[in-house]
Amino acid sequence: MSEKHNSEKLRNIIKDSISNQKRKTVTVLSSLLAVQDSLHYIPDEAIEEISKHCKVTINDVWSVASFYTNFRFTPPGDKTLDVCWGPSCHINGAQKLINQAHDELDIKGEGESEDKKVTLRYSTCLGACAQSPVFAIDHKMFGKLDETKVTKIINTLKN
Ligand code: FES
Repeated sequence: MSEKHNSEKLRNIIKDSISNQKRKTVTVLSSLLAVQDSLHYIPDEAIEEISKHCKVTINDVWSVASFYTNFRFTPPGDKTLDVCWGPSCHINGAQKLINQAHDELDIKGEGESEDKKVTLRYSTCLGACAQSPVFAIDHKMFGKLDETKVTKIINTLKN
């Protein structure tokens, strides 16, 4: 598909998400959330479309978008690996497993792998402390982890 087609397609997804909001009051924030829900990030085109739709300046949209740390502005990897470093997971050895995930995926800290297949994110609790240490792939939990299980998880992510 040509670049022009891709960007038209992207704009259409953005316009649809903005105009199909079920909320009574459509705001800059609700529109940003709607775009992030469908694309999992906020492209520059979304800032423009939201500014048109809400009749505010690009700067107004940008100041809301940049205020909230939950918005991301680059496309995520194909899959997201959440690694928990909350208290229960920490006590049960999460740090060693997180280091292992970093090494095996060749990602430093949070972010995308070189091939853009995986986004690694830190979580302060994935809500499954009894299963700690816990990772999740696209919200599917993997608990009671050890080094062997982490290697298996990483291998499925890579393939
Ligand atoms: S602290 Fe890790 S799941 Fe709660």
